[in-house]
Amino acid sequence: MSSTPERKTFDLVIAANRLPVDQVVTDSGEAEWRRSPGGLVTAMDSVMRDQPGAWVGWAGEPGEPPARFDQGGVHLVPVGLSEDEVHLYYEGFSNGTLWPIYHDVIVAAAFHRDWWAAYQRVNLRFAQAVADVAAPGARVWVQDYQLQLAPAYVRALRPDVRIGWFNHIPFPPVELFAQLPWRGQLLDGLLGADFLGFQRQADAQNFVRACRQLIHAETRGGTVAVHDGSGRRVRAAAIPISIDFKGLEALARQPSVTARVAEIRESLGNPKVLMLGVDRLDYTKGIRHRLKAYQELLAEGQLGPPDVTLVQVATPSRERVAAYRQLREDVEQRVGRINGDLGVMGFPAVHYLHHSYPREEMAALFRAADIMLVTPLRDGMNLVAKEYVTCRFDLGGALVLSEFTGAWHELHQAFACNPHDIEGLKQTILRAINTPAPDKRRIMRALRRRVADHDVQRWASRFLAALDAAPARAEGGP
Ligand code: ADP
Ligand code: G6P
Repeated sequence: MSSTPERKTFDLVIAANRLPVDQVVTDSGEAEWRRSPGGLVTAMDSVMRDQPGAWVGWAGEPGEPPARFDQGGVHLVPVGLSEDEVHLYYEGFSNGTLWPIYHDVIVAAAFHRDWWAAYQRVNLRFAQAVADVAAPGARVWVQDYQLQLAPAYVRALRPDVRIGWFNHIPFPPVELFAQLPWRGQLLDGLLGADFLGFQRQADAQNFVRACRQLIHAETRGGTVAVHDGSGRRVRAAAIPISIDFKGLEALARQPSVTARVAEIRESLGNPKVLMLGVDRLDYTKGIRHRLKAYQELLAEGQLGPPDVTLVQVATPSRERVAAYRQLREDVEQRVGRINGDLGVMGFPAVHYLHHSYPREEMAALFRAADIMLVTPLRDGMNLVAKEYVTCRFDLGGALVLSEFTGAWHELHQAFACNPHDIEGLKQTILRAINTPAPDKRRIMRALRRRVADHDVQRWASRFLAALDAAPARAEGGP
């Protein structure tokens, strides 16, 4: 970090839609800071704890941004969004246009010119905040789909800095991406970066193909030539994200967590099989499919309480977006029906919890669960899958994992499922339950080894090394 009398500047600047903490106004009218939801924050928070830097992001409430402050060694720089911008840029373009297009159009995407205008405006505001706190020659690391124009805006404002961008979600096939009326501008925005990171090789390839087909850029291997007269080439590569394996495992081993594991199982009536789902309440997560499969297994008498129970933890998410409201209604209705039809007195078939929990409680839940159900229809990575195996230092438990997650590309030994195939999902769940313990231990050992060797610290250093190695600007360029 360097500083001038006027303001601090930093050699590493993160820009993400959200800060790692949200400012929440409590019922008593007081403002307090809470950890923000989602995998991006889980991962970046642990990366930033190890190095000094600034984090530019939204504090989660509309209105004037709070003042900058330091937290856990990181300088937080809040960016303000008006009520309108929350609607147009965050709920609208980011989560009503891009999110569905980037997740296989599980729900229909909407295209509105005023959403796009707000997206441009807010991306520019983020870029200005970045330009303001970046030291000369700094490394700027832009995160995710909400900020795809920011790389080019930052470059225009601060040609001296090095710019990386990482996409936490899938990058869609060109046939879907091409639907976006502003596809060319989005690609140009991203090509403002020096290096672009994706979860899977297929995502990087989709991006390169989109550049070739939609803006007629010359591409070679994983690189794209930029038509701005600079002679730059931008590299796109897969660097799958991960979690803080050592830190989470140490937390999971704490005696207080061990005590809580026993309490959780006890409070559920010590079932023989405790199944667990942990998701943001998002239509990409396949919660409806999971519940349907479970309901059928119960109705057929293949499973049932009190021997078996399912705990579904669903973090509230994007609650003003219609598709998310609909999902919540569907899930809650189905949980009600399953419990009404198939529960027994004192032993509900599903324990549905619509809250956020502290990390310790999550670790205890993971340790308590015999079967972890991770069944997204599409997911960039899914850190929950990696967290589960990290917490199972006892080599207990079994992971049922959708083939449509980024995690599956690393965790092949898991019990793989196609969540669209309800019959297949049911059989996979039964197989995960019935596989002999020694085989499950062998599988869990392999899964844990993969996550231990590819943790979030390694991810961050690989990303930053790739950013540093990106070709320097050609001589004489702008
Ligand atoms: P996404 O980023 O789409 O939400 P991930 O699985 O990659 O999905 O990351 C979710 C993160 O949020 C994980 O770190 C997980 O432990 C955390 N999380 C999910 N649900 C809860 C909850 N109810 N309480 C606390 N943390 C949660
Ligand atoms: C995913 C996205 C993140 C986002 C998170 C939570 O992980 O990749 O960018 O922050 O979901 O969603 P939210 O809309 O609440 O920020």
